[in-house]
This record gives sequence, structure tokens and C-alpha cells, in this order.
Amino acid sequence: MIKKLRKAVLPVAGLGTRFLPATKATAKEMLPVVDKPLIQYAVEEARAAGIEQFCMVTGRGKTALVEHFDVAFELESTLRERAKSEALEALHGAQSEPGSIVTVRQQVPLGLGHAIWCARAFIGDDPFAILLPDDLVLADKPCLLQLAEAYYETGGNVVAVTEVPPEHTNRYGILKVGSDDGRLVEVTGLVEKPAPKDAPSNLSIIGRYILLPKVIDYLALMERGAGNEVQLTDAMARLIGEQPFHGLRYEGRRFDCGDKIGYLEAQIAFALKRPDLAADVRAFLKNYV
Ligand code: UTP
Repeated sequence: MIKKLRKAVLPVAGLGTRFLPATKATAKEMLPVVDKPLIQYAVEEARAAGIEQFCMVTGRGKTALVEHFDVAFELESTLRERAKSEALEALHGAQSEPGSIVTVRQQVPLGLGHAIWCARAFIGDDPFAILLPDDLVLADKPCLLQLAEAYYETGGNVVAVTEVPPEHTNRYGILKVGSDDGRLVEVTGLVEKPAPKDAPSNLSIIGRYILLPKVIDYLALMERGAGNEVQLTDAMARLIGEQPFHGLRYEGRRFDCGDKIGYLEAQIAFALKRPDLAADVRAFLKNYV
């Protein structure tokens, strides 16, 4: 029996060194794309895929991420008094069901794998999604919904994948590919950040995963991998052969918003999708290119 997917883990305990000084006192995941912080895009995408329960893996200086989904009582009553209905409306997506978001502290950023292991009590015996909020996907059908459909189809582990330039394999988790129908690929191996000459393909994992809880047993071994971090990719690699494991070539465009260029590109791409902004943005862009 395939268990229903209800849980998502949002690891947000990274240091965000590529975005200093902006991330000195603010979480990277609070950076806005147009007018919405990255964390809210992730939560909305997860909700669209049927997720009801969230666990944020946080660290020092990340309290704004939790505050963002709380009721802003004073702000809302002031807006109501002043009949600012549009502004009130804008707060909607930032509201969560009481009790639907829990947090755990990673305490020391030992790597993504360690961050996920910190959510083990929340995960329990259930399948769970992972969304890395700094990976933003612009898609007609939300990326995690596409992945959830693949999970219900295969009943196993599924990760969202995309082709990257062969010279960039050392930035990502890379797949060794078995059968491939152009959409779903069978994963026969996984390597974290291989040098281009050692990479088994140029198909890379992006920050969207649906995993079965077994991965926690392998994370608990706390083996250090690339960059001396506890790598999620290494624990996932151990599942291959034991459980179904697929990559899904999702439809959409991914922006790495943890990187300056990716973030700037996301601003433009998302603004151009907004009916209230697109014409003005297109007009001013002409002044620069
Ligand atoms: P990144 O590789 O983007 O690392 O982490 P980072 O620290 O956030 O940013 P840079 O590279 O220093 O600029 C990918 C995801 O894993 C989380 C991050 O918050 C991000 O969502 N992460 C990473 C943790 O939660 N804990 C860790 O120990 C490492």
C-alpha cells in the first residue's frame, strides 16, 4: 500500500555564505522574489502537492522564518481599521493552520543530510517531501505536485532532476541512469559533486525530493562525504537496489536563488509572469540591454 504524502521537511539551517552580507542577520530563505520570501514559495508549492504538516530545520538567526507564518494580529487589525483590503489579502498565503508547522534546531550545520536527520521524530514511519527553499521552480504545474504524482505511480523514492552543463557537475548531486522513458529515469547510482571527468551523467538533483523513511537509518550512520559534510545524496545512494528510486524530469524552470545570478534571474522571470508588473518590467529592461 502506498502511504499518502502529508509531510514536508524544509531545511533552512545553512549559513548562506554565497549571499553575505545580506544573510548576516537574516535568513537566506527570507529573501524576497518580487514581493514574497523564498520560504513562502516553498510552503505554497508543498500545499499544492497535498502537504499538511511542515518541519523547518532551523538554526540561529532564523526566527523570522517561523514568525512569517504566524498571525500578525496588530498589523492585521491596523489594516482592517484602515480598510486596506488588498494588503490584507496579500497576507493570506503567509498564514498557516495552527499547529501545522513545527521546528527543530540543527544546532551545528553539518550538512543537508544531518539537517534531514534532525527531523527524524517528525518523519516517523511516513514518506516525506524535502524542499530546499533556495531552489525556486517556475512551472505551470507546481514541481512538488509533479513529483508527488510520480511517487504515487512508483511507490518509491523520487527526486526532481534536470540536465546541467557537463562542466558544472561538481556543484550538484548527479545520477547514474538506468532505464529512461524521457520523463522518469531509473536511478542506479548517485554521486555528490563529482568532477566532470568522474560524473556518471549530467543529470542533477534539484531541491525537491520525496523519500521513504528508511533513508533516516542511513543518515544516522553520520558518514561524512563531499566537503566533509553529512550528505543526503550518500544516504540516498544506499537505498538503490533496496527500494524503487527514480528521477523525474520535471516541467518548469529552476532558479538557484542561493546564488546571486540565479536570484537576479528569478526576480526578472517571476516579475514577467505577474500581470500587474510585466509591462513595466519589460519596458525598463530595454534601458539596460
Ligand atoms: P546550501 O548548499 O545552499 O548551503 O544548502 P547554504 O549554507 O544554505 O548556502 P551557502 O552555500 O553557504 O551559500 C542547501 C540547503 O540545505 C540547507 C540550507 O539551508 C539550504 O536550504 N542546509 C545546508 C541545512 O539546513 N543545514 C546544513 O548543515 C547545510
